[in-house]
Amino acid sequence: MAANFKYTAKPNPVVGALILERDQIICEGFHERYGGPHAEVNCLEQLEKLRNKQRENLTLLCTLEPCNHFGKTPPCTDEIIKSGVKNVVIGSVDPNPKVSGSGIKKMQENGIKVTQGVLDEEARKINEYFFFKHADNRPFITIKIASSKDGKSHDAKGSTTWITSEDSRNDVQLLRAEHDVILTGGNTVRNDNPRMNARVNFPVNQPKKILLSSQETWDMNFHFFKNADFEITNETDLSKIMRSSFLKESNSIMVEAGPKLVNAFLKNRLCDRLVIYKSQVEIGNDGVNWFENDNALDKYGFKIKSNYTIGPDIKMVLENG
Ligand SMILES: NC(=O)c1ccc[n+]([C@@H]2O[C@H](COP(=O)([O-])OP(=O)(O)OC[C@H]3O[C@@H](n4cnc5c(N)ncnc54)[C@H](OP(=O)(O)O)[C@@H]3O)[C@@H](O)[C@H]2O)c1
Repeated sequence: MAANFKYTAKPNPVVGALILERDQIICEGFHERYGGPHAEVNCLEQLEKLRNKQRENLTLLCTLEPCNHFGKTPPCTDEIIKSGVKNVVIGSVDPNPKVSGSGIKKMQENGIKVTQGVLDEEARKINEYFFFKHADNRPFITIKIASSKDGKSHDAKGSTTWITSEDSRNDVQLLRAEHDVILTGGNTVRNDNPRMNARVNFPVNQPKKILLSSQETWDMNFHFFKNADFEITNETDLSKIMRSSFLKESNSIMVEAGPKLVNAFLKNRLCDRLVIYKSQVEIGNDGVNWFENDNALDKYGFKIKSNYTIGPDIKMVLENG
């Protein structure tokens, strides 16, 4: 259930909380939107309405260790202590250094029995990008490319045309919706004037955008600059960009660029997942290859994680290691 809120909670993790009385769920709450109350608080709010419950017999279960710091909301640990619940079961310790272990300690110091790590793997799986960011100190990087049947990115001479089908393009909207940031390069914006927002039929915190370009001034009428926060940077060191303050709160980034920038990311080993949409369309001799001998994909040690048809195209997901 908590994962239902992944598009509105991001870049926060998805978190759910339940209160059990013996084997019965009597309250539940979720972190529904970024900046809004945490799951534990939403759950305890329901408990407040149930006046006749013996609090010390109740157990609070939550996906992640409750927070113990003032962020956008006050610490959840204070609310739990105030509630009188004496048993807390945690899916996974919060990897965020602002929390990690301190929420557990505070509750234990206040006479609460804490059981931790009971669903560690599941909590990590539903919050893959969040855990990655705290372990690796940079956002998870997905590179998405659309390729013609003959391995080309675009027609060097031609005007902009779609390579892949509408089904694939709709799938890309979902990929955008789950990432915190979309990144592209100067040529792509100049040539294609893409919007690069998530056009989906459900509420989503729109990804922020980064444009990598040495061009000093940009016409703000390009679609790219509309509908989300953006940053233009002339920094060419990609590792530095991944650690920039603009990305401080971001757990995931999706690179949607042409061959030059995509290959720069690959050469710098800055790709955790590569998503290729391969169409049946051939571009021919005027097409620009995605990969050449010196940067052939198999050099990077990617392994295929999934490979299936999507409309008339093939969607292939590869991961490093
Ligand atoms: N098939 C697809 O999935 C797909 C997706 C996106 C784009 N495209 C096509 O790709 C074409 C453009 O491809 P592209 O590779 O020339 O352009 P790109 O995606 O715009 O990337 C290259 C540009 O990024 C900027 N840049 C900044 N730091 C860089 C770095 N470290 N390494 C490389 N570039 C850096 C530069 O912009 P400045 O020149 O402004 O300094 C450079 O010209 C477009 O015309 C579009 O049609 C295809």
